[in-house]
Amino acid sequence: MKNLIDKLRKTQCLSADELKFLIENISDEELCYLHKCAREVAIENYGNKVFVRGLIEFTNYCKNNCYYCGIRAGNKCVSRYRLEKQDILDCCKQGYDLGFRTFVLQGGEDLYFTDEKMVDIISAVRETYPDCAITLSVGEKPFDTYKKYFEAGANRFLLRHETADEKHYSKLHPENLTLENRFQCLKNLKEIGFQTGCGFMVGSPYQTTEHIVKDLLFIKEFQPEMVGIGPFLPHKDTPFKDSPGGSVRLTLMLLSIIRLLVPSVLLPATTALNTADENGRENGILAGANVIMPNLSPNSVREKYMLYDGKVSSFDESAEEIEHLKKVMKNIGYEITCDRGDNKRFVKEK
Ligand code: 5AD
Repeated sequence: MKNLIDKLRKTQCLSADELKFLIENISDEELCYLHKCAREVAIENYGNKVFVRGLIEFTNYCKNNCYYCGIRAGNKCVSRYRLEKQDILDCCKQGYDLGFRTFVLQGGEDLYFTDEKMVDIISAVRETYPDCAITLSVGEKPFDTYKKYFEAGANRFLLRHETADEKHYSKLHPENLTLENRFQCLKNLKEIGFQTGCGFMVGSPYQTTEHIVKDLLFIKEFQPEMVGIGPFLPHKDTPFKDSPGGSVRLTLMLLSIIRLLVPSVLLPATTALNTADENGRENGILAGANVIMPNLSPNSVREKYMLYDGKVSSFDESAEEIEHLKKVMKNIGYEITCDRGDNKRFVKEK
């Protein structure tokens, strides 16, 4: 097993069979070694820095009906909200004052936010914060819409592929959503020039090791600048309410494998991981992640952005909280940084 891990580190690659063997047979001791290798590779690439992104969940309206997601259109129990431009700018200001230099605007697929409205919002953030990166996470859009977002000043885009297996995709999504379109969107985003992030849920219903291997090989091939993964967690008002949550151990293992497959990737210890494991942020970083995404959304709307039950929202956008975060990271040998934290491969190319 150790040979396999060394091979993965050295060649940044493994075959499908090797990945499957690794995932299914690694012992706890070998897993510690895998985490150690991943940590070293993260440090080789970005130093012992943890990048901070301010997450602004600006709408929980969504036209889609993904079976796993708490804010799916079909969930009538959700109290829906939208933040307007000024609310979003206020969130950015809070984040900026705390030292954040990346804002992530995330929302459901909400047709209220027309191209014109989004361009207006993106331009306003771009103008007010020329030194900050703007990341969008607003789902599938036509090529031209993505292009308008980019030209208005957005730099990065997160669009998880959710699963790289077509059949599995169709078990998680209604018929109008296809893996083919998801892949096309990811391709378009890259082509337009976004730093692009894909990713998947660990332990989503019907997921097998073969699916995970496909996800990993897709990530290797796509070479995203960012990857977001976290455990699937059930939400009580969705068709998957009785499905078990994904495993923290497997999530941490996959973070390490992804770090070794794509050494320069920006990899968050996600909110879902932190919800499933109270030390999720630290454990994620110790498994090779190097990004955390504190929530900057106004307190009044936070409980409404419930993708899954129990979603934690520990960050109270206060200076004390960021000090606490600094301490937590320092305790494990890392340093919070206010850098924009662009992907280093991307910085070189551009
Ligand atoms: N559990 C974990 N992650 C979820 N997401 C949506 N619903 C859930 C859930 N029940 C993730 C999806 C989506 C991202 C915004 O949140 O992967 O892309």
